[in-house]
Amino acid sequence: MQKILVLDFGGQYNQLIARRVRDDSVYAEILPYTTPIDEIQRRNYSGIIFTGGPNSVYDNSSPHYTKNILELGIPVLGICYGCQLIAWMRDGTVSTAPVSEYGKVEIKTVRESLLFKGIPESSVVWMSHTDYISEAPEGFEVIAETDNCPCAAMQNTEEKIYAVQFHPEVTHSQYGKEMLHNFLYEICGCTGDWKMDSFIDDTVKSLREKIGEKRVILGLSGGVDSSVAAGLLSRAVGSQLTCVFVDQGLMRKDEGDFVEKTFTSLFDMKFVRVNCQQHFLDALKGVTDPEQKRKIVGTEFYNVFWEQIKKEGNGGFFAQGTIYPDCIESGKGDADTIKTHHNRVKMPEDIHFDGIIEPLKDLFKDEVRAVGEKLGIPKQLVRRQPFPGPGLCVRILGEITAEKIRLVQDADAVLRDEMDKCGYSENLSQFFAVLPGAKSVGVMGDHRTYEDIIILRAVCTDDFMTADWARIPYDILAKVSNRITNEVKGINRVVYDITSKPPATVEYE
Ligand code: XMP
Repeated sequence: MQKILVLDFGGQYNQLIARRVRDDSVYAEILPYTTPIDEIQRRNYSGIIFTGGPNSVYDNSSPHYTKNILELGIPVLGICYGCQLIAWMRDGTVSTAPVSEYGKVEIKTVRESLLFKGIPESSVVWMSHTDYISEAPEGFEVIAETDNCPCAAMQNTEEKIYAVQFHPEVTHSQYGKEMLHNFLYEICGCTGDWKMDSFIDDTVKSLREKIGEKRVILGLSGGVDSSVAAGLLSRAVGSQLTCVFVDQGLMRKDEGDFVEKTFTSLFDMKFVRVNCQQHFLDALKGVTDPEQKRKIVGTEFYNVFWEQIKKEGNGGFFAQGTIYPDCIESGKGDADTIKTHHNRVKMPEDIHFDGIIEPLKDLFKDEVRAVGEKLGIPKQLVRRQPFPGPGLCVRILGEITAEKIRLVQDADAVLRDEMDKCGYSENLSQFFAVLPGAKSVGVMGDHRTYEDIIILRAVCTDDFMTADWARIPYDILAKVSNRITNEVKGINRVVYDITSKPPATVEYE
C-alpha cells in the first residue's frame, strides 16, 4: 500500500491534512518531527508533507529537521511553516512579512506547475503567517504570489519539492483539495489504493493470522469505536470473540437492550452482558459533587469490567477500540508524551493476555464509521451522537436515584423520537434531556401539581470545543414539550436551554 507521511511540526491542522489525503484514497500517517530520518526511509513513503507550525524558522527553539530529508528522492510538499522550513533548509531567505496575512487571500499563479493542474490562475486560499519567503532558494521557482506575499508557492520540479505558504487542507482554500490531489497523484504517483473495502479484507486476514485458534476478549461500550471493533473481530474469528458489555444502567432508554440485540443477532460472538445498575446506585448514593460522581462511575466501571474479565479467565488476546487520533504523538512540545486517552486502558497486574489487539488503530473516526456501515452495523450505532462516558450521571444534577434515571430516560426518549420523526436530528450535533432536580408548581385539570422540570439541550458544532445552541423551530419544541408533560409522569414543565459554549458547556456536570 502506498503511504504519505505527514511530518508534524506542531501545526493545528496536522490531522486535517492526513484526513484530506485519506479522503482522496491514499493512506497517510502522522509522525512527529522528532522521528529519525532512517525510520522515515525504512517506512518507504511515496511522499512527505511538512505541516505548518506556530514558530519562526530562525527561532532556535523551533522544530527543525535534518536537511537530508530533501535528498531522499521522495517528493515533498511544505505547508505554511513547512514551506518556510524548506526555504530555510535550502538557504533561501525567510523574513518577517511587512504585512502579515490572515484569512482568505487571493493568489495568482505565475508559472505552470503540476501542483496547480486544472486550477484557475486566480483563486482564494487561506493564509495564516507573519513570516514569509522573501527570496526563494536556488533551484526553486516561484509559482504563485499574492499582493503581500511574493512567494506564495514555489517548486523545484527536478527534485519534486513543492511548498505553499497557505493552507490547502482547510475548506476556505477554494482549490485546496485539488492541489493536494495533484501532489498525490501527479507528483507522488499515487494510484489511490486506500479503500475501506480493502481495509476490511486485509484486516480480517491479518487478524485471523494473528489470533489463530486463540480467543479474544473485547470490552464493548455501545459506542462507535468498540462496536466497529467488535464487528471486525467477529467477521475475523466469529465465536472465538467474547464481548463484555457492562450496563451500568446510566445509558439512554432501552440502549442496553438495543446493543445486546444488535450484536447477538448480527454477529457470531459470545456476548456477556453485566447488568449492574444497582451496584452503581449504591456507589453513588448520597453523592452530589459532580467531579466525585464522575470519578465513582469511572472507577466502578473498571472494577466491574475487570472482575468480569477475570471470570472469563486468562490467556488469548485482549482487544480495544483505540482509533488513530488516540495514538498520534504530537509534534508539539514534549514529543515523548503519547496522548493518553480513555480508549487505552491500563490493565490490572493480575490479568494476563498473550497480546493486545487494536484493529482500528490506523483509522480516523469518519473511517471507523464507514467501516461500521460496510460491516452492516445499524446507522443508529455508527452515526450515534456522542454520549459521555459517565452517561446520564452528568445529566441528572445532584444525587442519582432510580426514579430520576427513569424521568430523564423517558423524556430523552420522547425528544429523540420526535427529532427522528421530523428528521430534524440531521441538523443537530447533539441533543438530550437534563433533569436539574428542581420542582415547580403546575396545574393539571383542577389539581395543583408540584413536579420536576426537564431541560432540553441541543447544540450544533464542528468540534465540540465551541458549540452554538440549536435554533429548533418552535412548533417542534412545542410538540416535544407537549408530549413530555403528557407522557412522562412526574414532569410538569419543559424548558429549552439557549446558552452556547462558551460560556456554558454542552453537558451539565
Ligand atoms: P462539554 O460538556 O465538555 O462536552 O462541553 C463536549 C463533548 O464531550 C462529551 N463529554 C464526554 N465524553 N466522557 C466522554 O466520553 C466524558 O466524561 C464526557 N463529558 C463530556 C459531551 O457529551 C460533548 O459531546
